[in-house]
Amino acid sequence: MSVIEEVKQKTDIVEVIGQYTPLTKSGKTFRGLCPFHSEKHGSFFVYPDQQSWHCFGACGTGGDVFSFIMKKDGVGFGDALRLMAEKCGVTIPQNALAEKAREKHDRLYLANEATADYYHQLLLRSPEAQTVRDYLSKREVNAQSIEDFKLGYSPSAWDGLQKHLIERGFTNEELLEAGLISESDNNKMKHDRFRHRLMFPIDDVRGRIIGFGGRALDDNQQPKYLNSPQTPLFDKSANLYGLDLAKDAMRKEGRAVIVEGYMDVILPHQHGYKNIIASMGTAIGENHVAILKKLTKNLVLALDPDSAGEEATLRSVGLENSLGAEIRVAILPEGQDPDEIVIKDPQKWHDLINTSIPILDYSFEKASTGLDLKSSLGKTSAIEALMPIVSQIKDVVRQTYYADKLAALVGQAPRKIELLLQNNKTARFAKKSQAEIAKASVSNPLEEFCLAVILKNPGLKNQYAELLPEYFDCSENREVYNVIRSCQDTSQVKTLLDSSLLEHFERIMGKKLIENKMEAKLADAVLRLREEYLKRLAGNRADTLAIEEGKQLKELFVNKEHLGEQKRRQK
Ligand code: CTP
Ligand code: MN
Repeated sequence: MSVIEEVKQKTDIVEVIGQYTPLTKSGKTFRGLCPFHSEKHGSFFVYPDQQSWHCFGACGTGGDVFSFIMKKDGVGFGDALRLMAEKCGVTIPQNALAEKAREKHDRLYLANEATADYYHQLLLRSPEAQTVRDYLSKREVNAQSIEDFKLGYSPSAWDGLQKHLIERGFTNEELLEAGLISESDNNKMKHDRFRHRLMFPIDDVRGRIIGFGGRALDDNQQPKYLNSPQTPLFDKSANLYGLDLAKDAMRKEGRAVIVEGYMDVILPHQHGYKNIIASMGTAIGENHVAILKKLTKNLVLALDPDSAGEEATLRSVGLENSLGAEIRVAILPEGQDPDEIVIKDPQKWHDLINTSIPILDYSFEKASTGLDLKSSLGKTSAIEALMPIVSQIKDVVRQTYYADKLAALVGQAPRKIELLLQNNKTARFAKKSQAEIAKASVSNPLEEFCLAVILKNPGLKNQYAELLPEYFDCSENREVYNVIRSCQDTSQVKTLLDSSLLEHFERIMGKKLIENKMEAKLADAVLRLREEYLKRLAGNRADTLAIEEGKQLKELFVNKEHLGEQKRRQK
Protein backbone atom coordinates (compact mmCIF):
# COMPACT_ATOMS: atom_id res chain seq x y z
CA MET A 1 0.00 0.00 0.00
CA SER A 2 1.28 3.45 -0.84
CA VAL A 3 1.81 6.08 1.83
CA ILE A 4 -1.13 8.04 0.46
CA GLU A 5 -3.44 5.05 0.79
CA GLU A 6 -2.15 4.24 4.24
CA VAL A 7 -2.80 7.76 5.47
CA LYS A 8 -6.30 7.69 4.00
CA GLN A 9 -7.03 4.41 5.71
CA LYS A 10 -5.80 5.55 9.07
CA THR A 11 -7.61 8.85 8.94
CA ASP A 12 -11.18 9.53 9.85
CA ILE A 13 -12.38 12.56 7.97
CA VAL A 14 -15.11 13.30 10.53
CA GLU A 15 -12.54 13.54 13.28
CA VAL A 16 -10.17 15.70 11.25
CA ILE A 17 -12.79 18.16 10.06
CA GLY A 18 -14.48 18.11 13.46
CA GLN A 19 -11.39 19.84 14.83
CA TYR A 20 -12.07 22.81 12.58
CA THR A 21 -15.83 23.07 12.81
CA PRO A 22 -18.32 21.34 15.14
CA LEU A 23 -20.26 18.62 13.32
CA THR A 24 -23.57 17.07 14.27
CA LYS A 25 -24.70 13.71 13.09
CA SER A 26 -27.84 13.53 11.00
CA GLY A 27 -28.57 10.14 9.52
CA LYS A 28 -25.49 8.79 7.81
CA THR A 29 -23.94 12.17 7.39
CA PHE A 30 -22.51 14.95 9.51
CA ARG A 31 -23.44 18.57 9.18
CA GLY A 32 -21.90 21.83 10.34
CA LEU A 33 -21.11 25.45 9.58
CA CYS A 34 -18.75 25.72 6.65
CA PRO A 35 -15.23 26.49 7.90
CA PHE A 36 -14.43 28.30 4.64
CA HIS A 37 -17.11 30.94 4.67
CA SER A 38 -19.29 32.53 7.33
CA GLU A 39 -22.88 31.33 7.44
CA LYS A 40 -25.73 30.91 9.86
CA HIS A 41 -27.19 27.64 8.59
CA GLY A 42 -24.93 24.68 8.10
CA SER A 43 -24.53 23.90 4.43
CA PHE A 44 -21.36 21.94 5.00
CA PHE A 45 -21.56 18.14 5.00
CA VAL A 46 -19.18 15.34 5.74
CA TYR A 47 -19.81 11.84 4.38
CA PRO A 48 -18.01 9.19 6.44
CA ASP A 49 -18.89 6.40 3.99
CA GLN A 50 -17.15 8.15 1.19
CA GLN A 51 -14.63 9.92 3.40
CA SER A 52 -15.52 13.12 1.62
CA TRP A 53 -16.92 16.60 2.31
CA HIS A 54 -18.99 19.09 0.41
CA CYS A 55 -20.15 22.66 0.96
CA PHE A 56 -23.46 23.36 -0.71
CA GLY A 57 -23.30 27.03 0.23
CA ALA A 58 -21.10 29.74 -1.18
CA CYS A 59 -18.15 27.40 -1.78
CA GLY A 60 -20.04 24.89 -3.90
CA THR A 61 -17.11 22.56 -3.72
CA GLY A 62 -15.80 19.54 -1.90
CA GLY A 63 -13.26 16.75 -1.92
CA ASP A 64 -11.42 14.35 0.33
CA VAL A 65 -9.42 14.88 3.50
CA PHE A 66 -6.35 16.12 1.61
CA SER A 67 -8.23 18.76 -0.34
CA PHE A 68 -9.80 19.89 2.94
CA ILE A 69 -6.41 20.44 4.56
CA MET A 70 -5.04 22.03 1.38
CA LYS A 71 -7.87 24.55 1.35
CA LYS A 72 -7.95 25.13 5.09
CA ASP A 73 -4.22 25.55 5.63
CA GLY A 74 -3.41 27.03 2.22
CA VAL A 75 -0.82 24.36 1.52
CA GLY A 76 -0.01 22.11 -1.42
CA PHE A 77 -0.73 18.41 -1.67
CA GLY A 78 2.72 17.40 -0.40
CA ASP A 79 2.39 19.46 2.76
CA ALA A 80 -1.15 18.23 3.39
CA LEU A 81 0.06 14.65 3.09
CA ARG A 82 3.02 15.22 5.41
CA LEU A 83 0.76 16.87 7.96
CA MET A 84 -1.79 14.06 7.94
CA ALA A 85 0.90 11.39 7.91
CA GLU A 86 2.47 12.88 11.00
CA LYS A 87 -0.90 13.00 12.77
CA CYS A 88 -1.65 9.34 12.18
CA GLY A 89 1.88 8.13 12.65
CA VAL A 90 2.75 7.07 9.12
CA THR A 91 6.35 7.68 8.19
CA ILE A 92 7.05 8.88 4.69
CA PRO A 93 10.07 7.09 3.31
CA GLN A 94 12.69 9.33 1.77
CA ASN A 95 12.39 7.76 -1.57
CA ALA A 96 15.22 7.87 -4.05
CA LEU A 97 13.09 9.54 -6.68
CA ALA A 98 12.20 12.45 -4.44
CA GLU A 99 15.81 12.82 -3.45
CA LYS A 100 16.85 12.96 -7.09
CA ALA A 101 14.21 15.54 -7.93
CA ARG A 102 15.43 17.70 -5.08
CA GLU A 103 19.03 17.45 -6.25
CA LYS A 104 18.01 18.45 -9.71
CA HIS A 105 16.06 21.44 -8.44
CA ASP A 106 19.10 22.54 -6.46
CA ARG A 107 21.16 22.55 -9.64
CA LEU A 108 18.58 24.71 -11.40
CA TYR A 109 18.56 27.20 -8.52
CA LEU A 110 22.35 27.38 -8.76
CA ALA A 111 22.19 27.95 -12.53
CA ASN A 112 19.68 30.78 -12.02
CA GLU A 113 21.83 32.30 -9.30
CA ALA A 114 24.94 32.24 -11.52
CA THR A 115 22.90 33.73 -14.37
CA ALA A 116 21.62 36.60 -12.26
CA ASP A 117 25.21 37.36 -11.12
CA TYR A 118 26.47 37.29 -14.68
CA TYR A 119 23.76 39.66 -15.97
CA HIS A 120 24.12 41.92 -12.95
CA GLN A 121 27.88 42.34 -13.38
CA LEU A 122 27.38 43.11 -17.07
CA LEU A 123 24.82 45.76 -16.25
CA LEU A 124 27.16 47.39 -13.76
CA ARG A 125 30.33 47.24 -15.81
CA SER A 126 30.15 46.32 -19.47
CA PRO A 127 30.50 49.12 -22.07
CA GLU A 128 27.75 47.41 -24.07
CA ALA A 129 25.31 48.11 -21.23
CA GLN A 130 25.86 51.89 -21.18
CA THR A 131 22.55 52.49 -22.99
CA VAL A 132 20.77 50.33 -20.39
CA ARG A 133 22.32 52.28 -17.51
CA ASP A 134 21.12 55.45 -19.24
CA TYR A 135 17.68 53.93 -19.70
CA LEU A 136 17.41 53.05 -16.02
CA SER A 137 18.45 56.48 -14.93
CA LYS A 138 15.91 57.98 -17.32
CA ARG A 139 13.27 55.88 -15.55
CA GLU A 140 14.71 57.05 -12.22
CA VAL A 141 15.79 53.65 -10.95
CA ASN A 142 18.70 54.31 -8.59
CA ALA A 143 21.80 52.27 -7.78
CA GLN A 144 20.29 50.90 -4.58
CA SER A 145 17.29 49.50 -6.46
CA ILE A 146 19.54 47.98 -9.12
CA GLU A 147 21.30 46.26 -6.24
CA ASP A 148 18.18 45.28 -4.26
CA PHE A 149 16.40 43.77 -7.24
CA LYS A 150 19.66 42.55 -8.76
CA LEU A 151 18.77 43.99 -12.15
CA GLY A 152 20.90 42.86 -15.05
CA TYR A 153 21.70 43.02 -18.71
CA SER A 154 21.64 40.06 -21.09
CA PRO A 155 24.15 40.68 -23.87
CA SER A 156 23.33 40.59 -27.58
CA ALA A 157 25.56 37.61 -28.32
CA TRP A 158 23.82 34.30 -29.09
CA ASP A 159 25.83 32.33 -26.58
CA GLY A 160 27.20 34.74 -23.97
CA LEU A 161 25.43 33.09 -21.04
CA GLN A 162 25.72 29.57 -22.40
CA LYS A 163 29.53 29.81 -22.62
CA HIS A 164 29.76 31.39 -19.19
CA LEU A 165 27.72 28.65 -17.50
CA ILE A 166 29.20 25.69 -19.39
CA GLU A 167 32.62 26.88 -18.22
CA ARG A 168 31.25 26.74 -14.68
CA GLY A 169 30.23 23.13 -15.01
CA PHE A 170 26.55 23.34 -15.98
CA THR A 171 25.29 21.14 -18.77
CA ASN A 172 23.19 22.15 -21.76
CA GLU A 173 20.38 19.95 -20.44
CA GLU A 174 20.34 21.87 -17.18
CA LEU A 175 20.29 25.21 -18.97
CA LEU A 176 17.47 24.07 -21.22
CA GLU A 177 15.48 22.85 -18.27
CA ALA A 178 15.98 26.12 -16.41
CA GLY A 179 14.70 27.95 -19.50
CA LEU A 180 17.95 29.91 -19.82
CA ILE A 181 18.77 28.68 -23.31
CA SER A 182 16.41 27.55 -26.05
CA GLU A 183 16.70 25.19 -28.95
CA SER A 184 15.85 26.31 -32.47
CA ASP A 185 13.26 24.12 -34.17
CA ASN A 186 15.10 23.25 -37.37
CA ASN A 187 18.76 22.72 -36.60
CA LYS A 188 18.60 22.09 -32.85
CA MET A 189 21.09 24.92 -32.27
CA LYS A 190 21.05 26.05 -28.69
CA HIS A 191 21.21 29.75 -27.95
CA ASP A 192 20.64 32.13 -25.06
CA ARG A 193 16.96 32.75 -24.46
CA PHE A 194 17.43 36.36 -23.35
CA ARG A 195 19.46 38.63 -25.58
CA HIS A 196 19.89 42.39 -25.34
CA ARG A 197 17.32 42.83 -22.60
CA LEU A 198 17.03 44.51 -19.22
CA MET A 199 16.80 41.56 -16.85
CA PHE A 200 14.57 41.19 -13.77
CA PRO A 201 15.36 38.07 -11.72
CA ILE A 202 12.19 36.66 -10.13
CA ASP A 203 12.47 35.34 -6.56
CA ASP A 204 10.27 32.97 -4.63
CA VAL A 205 9.14 33.73 -1.09
CA ARG A 206 12.41 32.30 0.26
CA GLY A 207 14.51 34.55 -1.96
CA ARG A 208 15.66 31.85 -4.37
CA ILE A 209 15.75 32.83 -8.03
CA ILE A 210 13.18 30.82 -9.96
CA GLY A 211 13.00 32.66 -13.28
CA PHE A 212 13.55 35.88 -15.20
CA GLY A 213 11.68 38.62 -16.97
CA GLY A 214 13.51 40.47 -19.74
CA ARG A 215 12.41 43.85 -21.07
CA ALA A 216 13.07 44.84 -24.67
CA LEU A 217 15.47 47.75 -25.10
CA ASP A 218 14.95 48.61 -28.75
CA ASP A 219 11.70 49.84 -30.23
CA ASN A 220 11.47 47.06 -32.79
CA GLN A 221 12.31 44.27 -30.35
CA GLN A 222 9.49 41.79 -29.73
CA PRO A 223 7.96 40.82 -27.41
CA LYS A 224 8.22 43.79 -25.04
CA TYR A 225 8.63 41.41 -22.13
CA LEU A 226 10.04 37.93 -22.48
CA ASN A 227 9.77 35.70 -19.42
CA SER A 228 11.14 32.33 -18.41
CA PRO A 229 9.00 29.51 -19.73
CA GLN A 230 7.27 27.16 -17.31
CA THR A 231 10.07 25.18 -15.67
CA PRO A 232 10.30 22.86 -12.67
CA LEU A 233 10.94 26.02 -10.63
CA PHE A 234 8.87 28.67 -12.38
CA ASP A 235 5.12 28.94 -12.80
CA LYS A 236 3.78 32.41 -13.48
CA SER A 237 0.35 31.61 -12.06
CA ALA A 238 1.80 30.70 -8.69
CA ASN A 239 4.42 33.40 -8.16
CA LEU A 240 4.49 37.10 -7.52
CA TYR A 241 7.32 39.44 -8.43
CA GLY A 242 9.02 41.07 -5.46
CA LEU A 243 7.51 38.81 -2.82
CA ASP A 244 10.76 38.18 -0.96
CA LEU A 245 11.49 41.89 -0.59
CA ALA A 246 7.88 42.75 0.22
CA LYS A 247 6.90 40.07 2.70
CA ASP A 248 8.15 41.71 5.90
CA ALA A 249 6.53 45.01 5.04
CA MET A 250 3.33 43.22 4.11
CA ARG A 251 3.19 41.49 7.47
CA LYS A 252 4.16 44.58 9.39
CA GLU A 253 1.69 46.90 7.69
CA GLY A 254 -0.96 44.24 7.42
CA ARG A 255 -1.54 45.16 3.82
CA ALA A 256 -0.33 44.08 0.39
CA VAL A 257 -0.57 46.17 -2.76
CA ILE A 258 -0.75 44.29 -6.05
CA VAL A 259 0.46 45.98 -9.21
CA GLU A 260 0.97 44.65 -12.74
CA GLY A 261 4.56 45.24 -13.73
CA TYR A 262 8.19 44.92 -12.68
CA MET A 263 8.81 48.69 -12.75
CA ASP A 264 5.63 49.27 -10.76
CA VAL A 265 7.15 47.26 -7.91
CA ILE A 266 10.63 48.75 -8.05
CA LEU A 267 9.82 52.47 -7.98
CA PRO A 268 7.35 52.47 -5.06
CA HIS A 269 9.86 50.28 -3.20
CA GLN A 270 12.58 52.83 -3.88
CA HIS A 271 10.34 55.50 -2.32
CA GLY A 272 9.75 53.52 0.82
CA TYR A 273 6.54 51.69 -0.13
CA LYS A 274 7.77 48.16 0.24
CA ASN A 275 4.57 46.14 0.60
CA ILE A 276 4.25 45.78 -3.16
CA ILE A 277 4.25 42.76 -5.46
CA ALA A 278 3.39 42.29 -9.14
CA SER A 279 1.21 39.72 -10.79
CA MET A 280 3.47 40.04 -13.86
CA GLY A 281 0.66 40.98 -16.17
CA THR A 282 -1.39 37.82 -15.67
CA ALA A 283 -4.75 37.67 -13.98
CA ILE A 284 -4.65 37.24 -10.23
CA GLY A 285 -5.74 33.73 -9.37
CA GLU A 286 -6.39 31.32 -6.52
CA ASN A 287 -2.70 30.42 -6.38
CA HIS A 288 -1.69 34.00 -5.76
CA VAL A 289 -4.35 34.42 -3.10
CA ALA A 290 -3.19 31.26 -1.37
CA ILE A 291 0.33 32.68 -1.08
CA LEU A 292 -0.71 36.17 -0.01
CA LYS A 293 -3.26 35.26 2.61
CA LYS A 294 -0.61 33.60 4.71
CA LEU A 295 0.99 37.05 4.99
CA THR A 296 -2.01 39.35 5.08
CA LYS A 297 -5.66 39.28 4.12
CA ASN A 298 -5.76 42.96 3.39
CA LEU A 299 -5.24 43.24 -0.37
CA VAL A 300 -5.35 46.37 -2.47
CA LEU A 301 -5.33 46.08 -6.26
CA ALA A 302 -3.53 48.89 -8.06
CA LEU A 303 -3.61 47.59 -11.61
CA ASP A 304 -2.91 49.77 -14.64
CA PRO A 305 -5.71 52.23 -15.39
CA ASP A 306 -6.35 50.77 -18.84
CA SER A 307 -9.01 48.39 -20.11
CA ALA A 308 -6.89 45.29 -19.46
CA GLY A 309 -6.25 46.38 -15.88
CA GLU A 310 -9.92 47.17 -15.36
CA GLU A 311 -10.94 43.81 -16.74
CA ALA A 312 -8.45 42.00 -14.50
CA THR A 313 -9.73 43.95 -11.49
CA LEU A 314 -13.35 43.00 -12.16
CA ARG A 315 -12.45 39.35 -12.56
CA SER A 316 -10.89 39.38 -9.09
CA VAL A 317 -14.23 39.86 -7.29
CA GLY A 318 -14.68 36.10 -6.96
CA LEU A 319 -11.38 35.80 -5.11
CA GLU A 320 -12.85 37.41 -1.99
CA ASN A 321 -14.41 34.06 -1.15
CA SER A 322 -11.12 32.19 -1.05
CA LEU A 323 -9.39 35.10 0.61
CA GLY A 324 -12.08 35.28 3.26
CA ALA A 325 -11.84 39.06 3.32
CA GLU A 326 -12.66 42.17 1.38
CA ILE A 327 -10.46 43.17 -1.56
CA ARG A 328 -9.96 46.87 -2.22
CA VAL A 329 -9.17 48.77 -5.39
CA ALA A 330 -7.04 51.88 -5.77
CA ILE A 331 -8.28 54.09 -8.57
CA LEU A 332 -5.27 55.38 -10.45
CA PRO A 333 -5.40 58.55 -12.55
CA GLU A 334 -5.89 57.84 -16.23
CA GLY A 335 -2.81 57.14 -18.28
CA GLN A 336 -0.41 56.75 -15.37
CA ASP A 337 1.14 53.46 -14.28
CA PRO A 338 2.14 53.17 -10.60
CA ASP A 339 5.82 53.80 -11.35
CA GLU A 340 5.01 57.14 -12.97
CA ILE A 341 2.71 58.21 -10.14
CA VAL A 342 5.32 57.53 -7.48
CA ILE A 343 8.05 59.36 -9.36
CA LYS A 344 5.89 62.44 -9.82
CA ASP A 345 4.51 62.58 -6.29
CA PRO A 346 5.28 59.88 -3.72
CA GLN A 347 2.69 61.26 -1.29
CA LYS A 348 0.02 60.84 -3.93
CA TRP A 349 0.74 57.12 -4.10
CA HIS A 350 0.20 56.90 -0.38
CA ASP A 351 -3.12 58.75 -0.66
CA LEU A 352 -4.34 56.62 -3.56
CA ILE A 353 -3.75 53.44 -1.61
CA ASN A 354 -5.38 54.89 1.49
CA THR A 355 -8.48 55.98 -0.40
CA SER A 356 -8.95 52.64 -2.13
CA ILE A 357 -12.55 51.42 -2.30
CA PRO A 358 -14.09 47.95 -1.78
CA ILE A 359 -13.97 45.94 -5.00
CA LEU A 360 -17.75 45.51 -4.82
CA ASP A 361 -18.26 49.27 -4.88
CA TYR A 362 -15.85 49.40 -7.78
CA SER A 363 -17.88 46.75 -9.63
CA PHE A 364 -21.06 48.73 -9.00
CA GLU A 365 -19.45 51.82 -10.43
CA LYS A 366 -18.18 50.04 -13.52
CA ALA A 367 -21.41 48.17 -14.11
CA SER A 368 -23.48 51.32 -14.06
CA THR A 369 -21.25 53.61 -16.11
CA GLY A 370 -22.75 54.27 -19.49
CA LEU A 371 -26.19 52.94 -18.53
CA ASP A 372 -29.32 55.03 -18.48
CA LEU A 373 -30.65 53.94 -15.11
CA LYS A 374 -33.92 55.71 -15.68
CA SER A 375 -34.82 53.44 -18.58
CA SER A 376 -36.08 49.94 -17.95
CA LEU A 377 -33.39 48.55 -20.26
CA GLY A 378 -30.71 50.26 -18.19
CA LYS A 379 -32.19 48.91 -14.96
CA THR A 380 -32.35 45.38 -16.32
CA SER A 381 -28.76 45.54 -17.53
CA ALA A 382 -27.56 46.75 -14.15
CA ILE A 383 -29.45 43.99 -12.34
CA GLU A 384 -28.15 41.35 -14.71
CA ALA A 385 -24.57 42.51 -14.26
CA LEU A 386 -24.70 42.90 -10.50
CA MET A 387 -27.07 40.22 -9.23
CA PRO A 388 -24.57 37.37 -9.79
CA ILE A 389 -21.98 39.35 -7.85
CA VAL A 390 -24.31 40.17 -4.97
CA SER A 391 -25.64 36.63 -4.74
CA GLN A 392 -22.17 35.19 -4.21
CA ILE A 393 -21.38 37.36 -1.18
CA LYS A 394 -21.15 35.01 1.76
CA ASP A 395 -21.50 37.42 4.62
CA VAL A 396 -25.19 38.07 5.24
CA VAL A 397 -24.79 41.60 6.53
CA ARG A 398 -22.65 42.62 3.58
CA GLN A 399 -24.99 40.92 1.18
CA THR A 400 -27.97 42.86 2.52
CA TYR A 401 -25.98 46.06 2.28
CA TYR A 402 -25.20 45.49 -1.40
CA ALA A 403 -28.70 44.25 -2.20
CA ASP A 404 -30.00 47.55 -0.80
CA LYS A 405 -27.42 49.42 -2.78
CA LEU A 406 -28.56 47.68 -5.94
CA ALA A 407 -32.17 48.53 -5.11
CA ALA A 408 -31.27 52.18 -4.73
CA LEU A 409 -29.27 52.13 -7.95
CA VAL A 410 -32.18 50.90 -10.05
CA GLY A 411 -34.88 52.68 -8.04
CA GLN A 412 -36.65 49.55 -6.80
CA ALA A 413 -37.94 48.69 -3.36
CA PRO A 414 -35.32 46.71 -1.41
CA ARG A 415 -37.90 43.97 -0.91
CA LYS A 416 -38.08 43.35 -4.66
CA ILE A 417 -34.35 42.95 -4.98
CA GLU A 418 -34.37 40.59 -2.02
CA LEU A 419 -36.97 38.47 -3.75
CA LEU A 420 -34.89 38.35 -6.91
CA LEU A 421 -31.94 37.38 -4.79
CA GLN A 422 -33.92 34.57 -3.18
CA ASN A 423 -34.98 33.31 -6.59
CA ASN A 424 -31.43 33.39 -7.69
CA LYS A 425 -30.48 31.24 -4.72
CA THR A 426 -33.33 28.79 -4.34
CA ALA A 427 -33.27 25.54 -6.18
CA ARG A 428 -36.47 24.09 -7.45
CA PHE A 429 -35.85 20.55 -8.49
CA ALA A 430 -38.72 18.36 -9.43
CA LYS A 431 -36.46 15.38 -9.83
CA LYS A 432 -35.04 13.57 -6.88
CA SER A 433 -32.07 11.55 -7.83
CA GLN A 434 -31.79 8.13 -6.32
CA ALA A 435 -28.25 7.88 -7.56
CA GLU A 436 -26.06 5.43 -5.75
CA ILE A 437 -23.36 6.95 -3.72
CA ALA A 438 -20.02 5.84 -4.99
CA LYS A 439 -18.42 3.49 -2.53
CA ALA A 440 -15.53 4.92 -0.69
CA SER A 441 -12.25 3.34 -1.51
CA VAL A 442 -8.71 4.37 -0.93
CA SER A 443 -7.81 4.17 -4.57
CA ASN A 444 -9.91 4.88 -7.59
CA PRO A 445 -9.16 2.59 -10.55
CA LEU A 446 -11.16 4.59 -13.07
CA GLU A 447 -9.37 7.81 -12.21
CA GLU A 448 -5.99 6.13 -12.38
CA PHE A 449 -6.82 4.44 -15.66
CA CYS A 450 -7.82 7.76 -17.16
CA LEU A 451 -4.58 9.41 -16.02
CA ALA A 452 -2.51 6.51 -17.34
CA VAL A 453 -4.11 6.81 -20.77
CA ILE A 454 -3.49 10.55 -20.86
CA LEU A 455 0.09 10.28 -19.67
CA LYS A 456 1.03 7.46 -22.02
CA ASN A 457 -0.65 8.92 -25.09
CA PRO A 458 0.57 12.48 -25.60
CA GLY A 459 -1.20 12.47 -28.98
CA LEU A 460 -4.58 12.58 -27.26
CA LYS A 461 -3.99 16.07 -25.88
CA ASN A 462 -7.12 17.53 -27.43
CA GLN A 463 -9.36 14.70 -26.33
CA TYR A 464 -9.84 15.69 -22.72
CA ALA A 465 -10.58 19.39 -22.85
CA GLU A 466 -13.87 18.74 -21.05
CA LEU A 467 -12.34 16.75 -18.23
CA LEU A 468 -12.36 19.06 -15.20
CA PRO A 469 -10.04 18.62 -12.21
CA GLU A 470 -13.01 18.34 -9.83
CA TYR A 471 -14.17 15.16 -11.57
CA PHE A 472 -11.32 13.48 -9.73
CA ASP A 473 -12.47 12.52 -6.28
CA CYS A 474 -9.02 11.63 -4.91
CA SER A 475 -6.82 14.65 -4.32
CA GLU A 476 -3.71 12.84 -5.46
CA ASN A 477 -5.27 12.16 -8.85
CA ARG A 478 -6.69 15.65 -9.05
CA GLU A 479 -3.25 17.02 -8.33
CA VAL A 480 -1.57 14.93 -11.03
CA TYR A 481 -4.24 16.07 -13.47
CA ASN A 482 -3.72 19.74 -12.53
CA VAL A 483 -0.05 19.36 -13.34
CA ILE A 484 -0.89 17.67 -16.66
CA ARG A 485 -3.09 20.60 -17.55
CA SER A 486 -0.45 23.13 -16.63
CA CYS A 487 2.24 21.85 -18.96
CA GLN A 488 2.74 21.76 -22.68
CA ASP A 489 3.70 18.20 -22.88
CA THR A 490 3.08 15.24 -20.62
CA SER A 491 6.76 14.30 -20.46
CA GLN A 492 7.26 17.29 -18.14
CA VAL A 493 4.70 16.12 -15.61
CA LYS A 494 7.11 14.08 -13.55
CA THR A 495 9.54 16.95 -13.02
CA LEU A 496 6.75 19.34 -12.03
CA LEU A 497 5.06 17.08 -9.51
CA ASP A 498 5.49 17.55 -5.81
CA SER A 499 7.94 14.90 -4.65
CA SER A 500 5.34 13.33 -2.36
CA LEU A 501 3.38 12.31 -5.44
CA LEU A 502 6.19 10.59 -7.31
CA GLU A 503 5.43 7.16 -5.93
CA HIS A 504 1.78 7.49 -6.84
CA PHE A 505 2.80 8.75 -10.26
CA GLU A 506 5.04 5.74 -10.84
CA ARG A 507 2.18 3.47 -9.92
CA ILE A 508 -0.06 5.08 -12.50
CA MET A 509 2.68 4.83 -15.08
CA GLY A 510 3.16 1.20 -14.15
CA LYS A 511 -0.38 0.33 -15.20
CA LYS A 512 -0.47 -2.04 -18.15
CA LEU A 513 -2.75 -0.78 -20.86
CA ILE A 514 -3.93 -2.69 -23.86
CA GLU A 515 -2.92 -0.29 -26.56
CA ASN A 516 -5.85 -0.20 -28.90
CA LYS A 517 -8.69 2.23 -29.47
CA MET A 518 -7.11 4.57 -26.95
CA GLU A 519 -9.08 7.56 -28.12
CA ALA A 520 -12.42 5.81 -27.60
CA LYS A 521 -11.33 4.44 -24.24
CA LEU A 522 -10.31 7.86 -23.07
CA ALA A 523 -13.57 9.41 -24.25
CA ASP A 524 -15.47 6.76 -22.36
CA ALA A 525 -13.42 7.20 -19.21
CA VAL A 526 -13.94 10.96 -19.31
CA LEU A 527 -17.68 10.51 -19.61
CA ARG A 528 -17.76 8.02 -16.79
CA LEU A 529 -15.75 10.26 -14.50
CA ARG A 530 -18.09 13.10 -15.21
CA GLU A 531 -21.08 10.87 -14.58
CA GLU A 532 -19.64 9.65 -11.29
CA TYR A 533 -19.00 13.22 -10.28
CA LEU A 534 -22.54 14.32 -11.04
CA LYS A 535 -23.94 11.29 -9.26
CA ARG A 536 -21.88 11.98 -6.19
CA LEU A 537 -23.04 15.54 -6.05
CA ALA A 538 -26.67 14.79 -6.75
CA GLY A 539 -26.67 11.84 -4.38
CA ASN A 540 -25.07 13.70 -1.55
CA ARG A 541 -27.42 16.51 -2.01
CA ALA A 542 -30.58 14.46 -2.21
CA ASP A 543 -29.51 12.81 0.99
CA THR A 544 -29.15 15.99 2.85
CA LEU A 545 -30.61 19.27 1.82
CA ALA A 546 -34.10 20.07 0.74
CA ILE A 547 -33.67 23.56 -0.52
CA GLU A 548 -30.59 25.27 -1.74
CA GLU A 549 -28.55 27.49 -3.92
CA GLY A 550 -30.14 26.50 -7.13
CA LYS A 551 -28.10 27.66 -9.98
CA GLN A 552 -25.22 25.35 -9.62
CA LEU A 553 -27.26 22.22 -9.25
CA LYS A 554 -29.68 23.18 -11.90
CA GLU A 555 -26.74 23.40 -14.25
CA LEU A 556 -25.58 20.03 -13.07
CA PHE A 557 -28.88 18.44 -13.97
CA VAL A 558 -28.84 20.10 -17.35
CA ASN A 559 -25.31 18.80 -17.78
CA LYS A 560 -26.41 15.39 -16.79
CA GLU A 561 -29.12 15.29 -19.38
CA HIS A 562 -26.68 16.56 -21.93
CA LEU A 563 -24.32 13.81 -20.88
CA GLY A 564 -26.88 11.10 -21.44
CA GLU A 565 -27.48 12.45 -24.88
CA GLN A 566 -23.77 12.52 -25.61
CA LYS A 567 -23.43 8.93 -24.49
CA ARG A 568 -26.28 7.81 -26.71
CA ARG A 569 -24.69 9.58 -29.64
CA GLN A 570 -21.38 7.87 -29.00
CA LYS A 571 -22.84 4.43 -29.12
N1 CTP B 1 4.18 41.27 -19.12
C1 CTP B 1 4.69 40.06 -19.53
N2 CTP B 1 4.75 39.73 -20.85
C2 CTP B 1 4.31 40.60 -21.80
C3 CTP B 1 3.77 41.83 -21.40
C4 CTP B 1 3.72 42.15 -20.04
O1 CTP B 1 5.10 39.28 -18.69
N3 CTP B 1 4.42 40.26 -23.09
C5 CTP B 1 4.11 41.59 -17.68
C6 CTP B 1 5.38 42.22 -17.16
O2 CTP B 1 5.58 41.76 -15.84
C7 CTP B 1 5.05 43.68 -17.19
C8 CTP B 1 3.59 43.68 -16.85
O3 CTP B 1 3.09 42.51 -17.46
O4 CTP B 1 5.82 44.40 -16.26
C9 CTP B 1 2.82 44.87 -17.31
O5 CTP B 1 2.93 45.00 -18.71
P1 CTP B 1 2.94 46.39 -19.41
O6 CTP B 1 1.90 47.30 -18.82
O7 CTP B 1 2.93 46.17 -20.90
O8 CTP B 1 4.38 46.91 -19.10
P2 CTP B 1 4.91 47.93 -18.04
O9 CTP B 1 5.14 47.29 -16.73
O10 CTP B 1 4.10 49.16 -18.05
O11 CTP B 1 6.33 48.17 -18.66
P3 CTP B 1 7.12 49.51 -18.79
O12 CTP B 1 6.69 50.38 -17.66
O13 CTP B 1 8.54 49.09 -18.72
O14 CTP B 1 6.76 50.06 -20.13
MN1 MN C 1 4.69 50.92 -17.10
